[in-house]
Amino acid sequence: MMDSKKLQHGQWSSSFAFIMAATGSAVGLGNIWKFPYIAGENGGGAFVIVYLLCVGLIGIPIMMAEIMMGRRGKQNPVDALKALAGEAGADKSWHYLGWTGVVAGFLILSYYSVIAGWASAYAVKAFIGSFSGAGSVEIKELFDNFIASPVQLIFWHTLFMLATMLIVARGINEGMEKALRFLMPGLFIILILLVAYAMTTASYEQGIAFLFTPDFSKLTGNSILTAMGQAFFTLSLGMGAIMVYGSYLPSEVSIAKTAFLIAGADTVVALLAGVAIFPIVFANGLEPASGPSLIFQTLPIAFGAMSGGWLFGVLFFVMLVFAALSSSISLIEPAVAWLVENRRISRESACIWAGLAAWLLGFASIFSFNVWSELKIFDRTIFHLLDYLTANLMLPVGGFFIAVFAGWVMKRQHSEQELNLAVKQSYSIWIFLVCYVAPGAVFLVFLHVVGVL
Ligand code: PHE
Repeated sequence: MMDSKKLQHGQWSSSFAFIMAATGSAVGLGNIWKFPYIAGENGGGAFVIVYLLCVGLIGIPIMMAEIMMGRRGKQNPVDALKALAGEAGADKSWHYLGWTGVVAGFLILSYYSVIAGWASAYAVKAFIGSFSGAGSVEIKELFDNFIASPVQLIFWHTLFMLATMLIVARGINEGMEKALRFLMPGLFIILILLVAYAMTTASYEQGIAFLFTPDFSKLTGNSILTAMGQAFFTLSLGMGAIMVYGSYLPSEVSIAKTAFLIAGADTVVALLAGVAIFPIVFANGLEPASGPSLIFQTLPIAFGAMSGGWLFGVLFFVMLVFAALSSSISLIEPAVAWLVENRRISRESACIWAGLAAWLLGFASIFSFNVWSELKIFDRTIFHLLDYLTANLMLPVGGFFIAVFAGWVMKRQHSEQELNLAVKQSYSIWIFLVCYVAPGAVFLVFLHVVGVL
């Protein structure tokens, strides 16, 4: 009894394929590039605790909600929300929530591709031996010269966006499913190697203390918002990416188990990245709060100094690019699925249009690192503004409404049936989290930031 839209919608080849894809979406630049630098900017330990609380209490229940809604709606997020609202007898305007997600994904992709371009360039720099024997001063110079050149950034951004479009055009089963099988474990192994290297530096303990000793006096309203935004960003929540992946999920797969697995793997990767990076930061007298350049100014020092560092450097950045690719394809997928299912255009053309638009917008972020670096809107460069707007505002607001929809709008019997939890009591816990805890926490954090609380 499926309508034609549902029929043209694909399906993952197995539950393992879904877990790989969703973990691939979650694990990306957010874990390895972003988490360490925002932890550094926000004082370390206390920030990490707030972040972990947000992952557990807000992230996991919302991830279950997104997968569940996607699987029940079986279409792109816009139409899935329309169908689910219809099923619940609620107002159809809920589908605008799908639209804000499409827009957020598109805005994120525009700058995500720029940073993934940096990682691609660094894979080549590692390959030609640019890091060997270089100290922190040379590595900083290398980075500064690189981002000062719009032409180089445009080149790498273009390559990355083309790769994203190519993979998405081939559909969900070919392309990524295969590559991810060995790339994700590979990335994990290199991270462990980097942690092992960090342990040999004299500043290992200082790095660990920075990351895990909470100093709550450093927590400002904005750093709490950033921690919460990061929980959404790193788990790919609040914009329909996980929802659209859930829509390709076969019905027998356990949603709770997969959500825990994905969030667990994502958190471990972020923490490992932090443990690898901060000892190197302190050992070289670098500044933990150096911002988006942090991993590009620290890890090359390690690669340049360790034996076999040439090879590890190449492997690390190549894998980072793949981790970014497996995330970028999920950023564009809601838009592509909507175009294919509503505009009756081919997947290829849908990818070209969506990719082209995000590519063009990416120029604004590129210029904000060089020719427009003085241009500030609300005190932020365009890159920072886009990042703040999407990760700290759009994703939590999207997540808030997703939780409200799953908890208050959908009929309990439908969500319970779709989640199909093995232990019956866990449904009550989940409902409590999506009805009260997750939306309540997002709301309180916003109130705190605007100064009401
Ligand atoms: N989770 C990805 C990362 O950590 C980024 C992302 C955000 C992907 C939102 C999809 C949706 O890099």
